[in-house]
Amino acid sequence: MASRSAKTPETTQPAQRLPAELAHAEELAALREADDGPRPEGWRLSPRAVRTFILGSGRDRRIARKIHGNDALVERAIVTLTGQRGLMLVGEPGTAKSLLSELLAAAISGDSTLTVQGGAGVVEEQIRYGWNYALLLRDGPGPASLVPGPLHRAMAGGGLLRFEEISRCVTEVQDCLVPVLSERLLHIPELKDVQPYLLARPGFNVIATANLRDRGVNEMSAALKRRFNFETMRPLDGIEAQARLIGEEVARELVAQRIGTEVLPQVLTLLATAFHELRAGMVEGTAIERPGTVLSTAEAISVACNAAADCWYFGEQRLRPAHLARYLVGTAIKDDDEDRRRFAEYLRIVARRRAGSEDWQDFVAGGQGA
Ligand SMILES: Nc1ncnc2c1ncn2[C@@H]1O[C@H](COP(=O)(O)OP(=O)(O)OP(=O)(O)O)[C@@H](O)[C@H]1O
Ligand SMILES: [Mg+2]
Repeated sequence: MASRSAKTPETTQPAQRLPAELAHAEELAALREADDGPRPEGWRLSPRAVRTFILGSGRDRRIARKIHGNDALVERAIVTLTGQRGLMLVGEPGTAKSLLSELLAAAISGDSTLTVQGGAGVVEEQIRYGWNYALLLRDGPGPASLVPGPLHRAMAGGGLLRFEEISRCVTEVQDCLVPVLSERLLHIPELKDVQPYLLARPGFNVIATANLRDRGVNEMSAALKRRFNFETMRPLDGIEAQARLIGEEVARELVAQRIGTEVLPQVLTLLATAFHELRAGMVEGTAIERPGTVLSTAEAISVACNAAADCWYFGEQRLRPAHLARYLVGTAIKDDDEDRRRFAEYLRIVARRRAGSEDWQDFVAGGQGA
């Protein structure tokens, strides 16, 4: 993950976060150097090296694992991108859809920034191309007055277009990808006297992500669906696996923020357990009402990072369960009064059932004060 104090090679200005191709530039260079596998036209790495970049190099740990679980899915995603269909990553919020899409684009085309962020207000011009109106009025339509959007740039450069949250765009806007994906050609009727279309260079493809549970999403047309292979990202199974993932991500983030709070594994296991029980609506056989909010791994990571920052800046050395509970409300439960009531009920049950555990009592005390 990007370091807060990292310098971008282009500007040497400090950046809050670097795109994956810069954050992992050394790993990508090493993979390229050693890569002798077959490489699809337009790709910077072979599919095998792309896999190693995302899933890690195993025991030698030269290349860190970046996506946990979902190994077979990652392989299928890579293979999909070698073909004529786009890749659609769907699933619950916080299951690393955006992260995987960024890593694939960084490894395959060396640029993860050709991105469209879907939303109700997105129009086709922001995706395909627009015009510099001063030049358009002066010289008329021509290559100089055309302002390429991410789709145009990806096609012209043989790169990957990342279309985030595609289902937040209205169906008509989503459908501008249909002819592009089938014919690999973008019509530019305004340039009828020059070259009225752009052909996609080898390497071009589309990775879209869609969140199927959120409100405010639009249907995808059958025509669009046919042009994509769908992969469903799932949350990690098991409390221990969750706790390990939270621990790794939190450790990385704390180093980047230069925060030295001590975070013990047992505290992370407690956090993963609380998330698991709230998601499942079950505490040791007792059913509870499930909060309506999304309680993903990404939310758990935020809770732990905020709690660790609180300790660091307000003078405590070690993260305690009480800190986690205090941030769980604002970070994950958010503004819904019903969810707050459900969380309070969860704390009441935990307080009764786990009276003998100091850690859980500390957690309950922190939550009650929040
Ligand atoms: N299986 C996983 N492997 C690695 N990291 C994960 C995994 N699941 C969640 N994460 C963590 O969660 C963070 C958030 O993931 P990301 O933003 O990619 O999710 P998303 O599926 O795009 O969510 P949303 O639908 O809200 O956009 C990641 O940066 C990573 O730290
Ligand atoms: Mg996302």
